[in-house]
Amino acid sequence: MKASVRARIRRAIALLMAASATCVHGSPAVDITVHADRPGAVIHPEIYGQFAEQLGHGIYGGIWVGEHSSIPNIKGYRKDVVEALKAIKVPVIRWPGGCFADQYDWRDGIGPRNQRPVRMNGSWGGEDDNQFGTHEFMDFAELIGAKTYVSINVGTGSPRDMSQWIEYITADGHSSLAQQRRANGRDKPWKLDYVGIGNEMWGCGGSMRPQFYADVYSQYATFVHAPPNAPITRIASGANAGDVHWTDTLMAAAGSQIDAISLHNYSIPTGDWKHKGSATQFGEDQWISTLQGALGMDDLITRHSQVMDKYDPKKRVALDVDEWGNWTDQDPDAGDAVLYQQNSLRDALSAAITLDIFQTHADRVRMANIAQMVNVLQAMILTDKSKMVLTPTYYVFDMYKVFQGATNLPIEVEAPPYHYGNAKVPGIHAAAGRDVAGVLHVALVNLDPHHATTVHIHLVGPHGANLQGKMLTAPAITSVNTFSRPHEVEPVPFDHAVLKDGVIAADLSPKSIVVLEIH
Ligand code: AHR
Repeated sequence: MKASVRARIRRAIALLMAASATCVHGSPAVDITVHADRPGAVIHPEIYGQFAEQLGHGIYGGIWVGEHSSIPNIKGYRKDVVEALKAIKVPVIRWPGGCFADQYDWRDGIGPRNQRPVRMNGSWGGEDDNQFGTHEFMDFAELIGAKTYVSINVGTGSPRDMSQWIEYITADGHSSLAQQRRANGRDKPWKLDYVGIGNEMWGCGGSMRPQFYADVYSQYATFVHAPPNAPITRIASGANAGDVHWTDTLMAAAGSQIDAISLHNYSIPTGDWKHKGSATQFGEDQWISTLQGALGMDDLITRHSQVMDKYDPKKRVALDVDEWGNWTDQDPDAGDAVLYQQNSLRDALSAAITLDIFQTHADRVRMANIAQMVNVLQAMILTDKSKMVLTPTYYVFDMYKVFQGATNLPIEVEAPPYHYGNAKVPGIHAAAGRDVAGVLHVALVNLDPHHATTVHIHLVGPHGANLQGKMLTAPAITSVNTFSRPHEVEPVPFDHAVLKDGVIAADLSPKSIVVLEIH
């Protein structure tokens, strides 16, 4: 009998069994099919990328404390933060903004630190003494093993500033800029992987119309000179959320010079930018609305990608979501830590759902950068002077690192929705992939905060016979890790799953994330 027929029979039997089954706590069973025999696109490691903007305590205090700090550091970088970031295999970092990038002069951030100018941070308030500049960023990326993504100042800069910055970073040989870099302490050129030609050019980057920006983009893109054998991906500043007209105009006017278009989207609990909602004091209404916001990423990617398909059916041009995450009201005690917010189990589920979505769109989405890495918005890490805590979102990135470089596998989920009030979302979200060693990984998210669910996962195609997993959940939807209670939301081994005859039966706790490995 052919393997596909055997698989169909197995699935039919399992469905019959599942139909009669009730799961833990009596909620209906859920069926998931993983097509392990139909490998799709490679999941680029860079979709688990990070964004670190020069604002608040994101860089200063969060990453950089300086060599003379009493906080343990490696050449000025916090040791605890470096180690934590290395552990999640950060693949790429975007810097220096964000809105900040379009007012940044790279020359302010090179040379002896005690001679660097202090500038107003025009985008986010306060001052920037430029202690963290090009050398500090490029060395930091090298230290944690990440690729480099530099946002170019288009709003107040010039193509000449850009091309000289690129030359300073990447030139070998004897040009004056290469010699200046050497005089400043770096002999060999760095590898510059991505440049963003401006940021949010429809808004803080210069309030441009898409037609105008398309020409500006082409002008800048012409002067991105990459060294031989070290290509630089040129990223056009993309749409605000669902503005597909922006994407259409850029693709029509400048598509042949674009390697990737960016997309920014934030989930705001209340949907109101003026009163976004608290990061910690929220009810089920804002639990579901925030998850709904995260789920909206699927539709956004689909719509922009459809527009791009008109011009680029072979998907040469990537759609890189270089800012995403939950954006709540700033913590009331944040002081000058602009955009500082706590991070709860809700953020963990949002992150997991969003990463699932990127994985299933791996044919078009080749990089994504969560906003932001440390102490800003939906952060991986929070610090307070010498203290550091890892957030629930950090642990999702840790659990999902097994998908870096894996092949996406098509997945079907048949699950009843979870409702609250008039809001409705899928009860279970999932994604699957096969890593380069041939091991299958399945990610499962139970969005329902009240009900446990039994899922039956039908594995169609080659797979191993052994199962192990990790789970992330917490007592409350608002559970957080704090400096005094840092272990409230942490992954634990998951042993509520059994694999038999190609079907995994897994009992998912309410409001939980599970990543299974089948080897
Ligand atoms: O991530 C914070 C800000 O959000 C960025 O600076 C900007 O690009 C976006 O509007």
